[in-house]
Amino acid sequence: MRIAVLGGDGFCGWPAALRLSAIGHEVWIVDNLSRRKIDVDLEIESLTPIQPIGARLSAWREASGRNVRFTRLDVARNYHRLLGFLQEVKPDAVVHYAEQRSAPYSMRSSVEKRYTVENNVAATHNLLCAIVESGLDIHVVHLGTMGVYGYSGAGPIPEGYVRAKFEGFDGTWVEREILSPPDPGSVYHMTKTLDQLLFFFYNKNDRVKVTDLHQGVVWGTNTKECLASETLINRFDYDGEYGTVLNRFLVQAAIDHPLTVYGTGGQTRAFIHIRDSVECIRLAIENPPSDGERVRIFNQMTETHRVADLAKLVARIGGAKIGEVPNPRREAERNDLIVTNDGLKRLGLKPTTLEGGLLEEILEVARKYGDRIDRTRIVSRSYWNSERKNAVEGA
Ligand SMILES: NC(=O)c1ccc[n+]([C@@H]2O[C@H](COP(=O)([O-])OP(=O)(O)OC[C@H]3O[C@@H](n4cnc5c(N)ncnc54)[C@H](O)[C@@H]3O)[C@@H](O)[C@H]2O)c1
Repeated sequence: MRIAVLGGDGFCGWPAALRLSAIGHEVWIVDNLSRRKIDVDLEIESLTPIQPIGARLSAWREASGRNVRFTRLDVARNYHRLLGFLQEVKPDAVVHYAEQRSAPYSMRSSVEKRYTVENNVAATHNLLCAIVESGLDIHVVHLGTMGVYGYSGAGPIPEGYVRAKFEGFDGTWVEREILSPPDPGSVYHMTKTLDQLLFFFYNKNDRVKVTDLHQGVVWGTNTKECLASETLINRFDYDGEYGTVLNRFLVQAAIDHPLTVYGTGGQTRAFIHIRDSVECIRLAIENPPSDGERVRIFNQMTETHRVADLAKLVARIGGAKIGEVPNPRREAERNDLIVTNDGLKRLGLKPTTLEGGLLEEILEVARKYGDRIDRTRIVSRSYWNSERKNAVEGA
């Protein structure tokens, strides 16, 4: 298949692009390299020394004998270039990773809030609009987040849709299957709930084929393809803004920094290993929805864990201390989480779990590049509101 990977220079997109290329698909990466620019602005670097995109692509050619092409364009701003790209390449599928993906970054100030909304919503809308204008039959595989559901619902989280009974305009009771009511916990998560409505509309109106993958927190770093050469290494964010919780704890353990558990760590979240994340993309692309099928939604996660339990586990294997810090986020101190994830398992996903011994492997990576860590960047400086800011700074 011909596959365009929007955001293919990023943490999830890069290993996915390489895997799709390795198994014989023709792959184009489209990226505006904005994530690298955010690193410069925040004065932070990936724990792993990621190479410029040109060097990465040459190394892949050398390691695999395959060509991954690259187009630098801003999906949110360069609509006509995006349309031209689709018309020229005629991809069978577009994997859409090209969004600002950090919740703390999206809450930093009005600058980042506005950037996140303008970038993410415009990127998704431009893509859908361009697909319709191109007249091509392109399957969109989008990376959403488990955070669209919120963490205070009743019972197991379904895959996208719920049966709802509500009072109609004339007072009679109506029963209908609807998108699960959104409950975003940050501006970033809010953009993903807005994406859902865009998909709903363009699927209903123009029959655009969409698979929306509500992904859990990704942990791990390298896949088989990224390990083929040092130049192909994947990025690894450990800072308070972009580091995802388990990866952050592992880096903290590697340098004897107390694990930064927010509050009592009673928050339960859904997780997926990067290798499974990449495999899910393959499964979604190779099994597209049928013509006229509504937006297909899968929960792309393999297990749930309470943050305090993760901290205890990492403390045990990495010999670290646990440090409870005031929570910069406005969120429930404690929640339970049960998630339905049958869709991707039905397509063939075999979950990689935390028990699989992969934590030590990540600790090794963290120790290897330990001298690149800036300890002053470990604690998040983004607060959900002024009350949280005062609570954290007061402490
Ligand atoms: N990393 C996670 O734990 C996680 C969890 C759930 C969902 N997701 C979703 O997966 C996707 C990828 O996440 P990631 O961790 O790889 O993030 P990332 O920031 O590492 O990668 C995103 C890539 O998209 C590019 N990009 C952003 N805006 C763009 C634009 N307007 N035009 C072109 N390129 C643009 C960036 O330069 C970057 O290379 C995101 O949409 C994110 O919301 C990630």
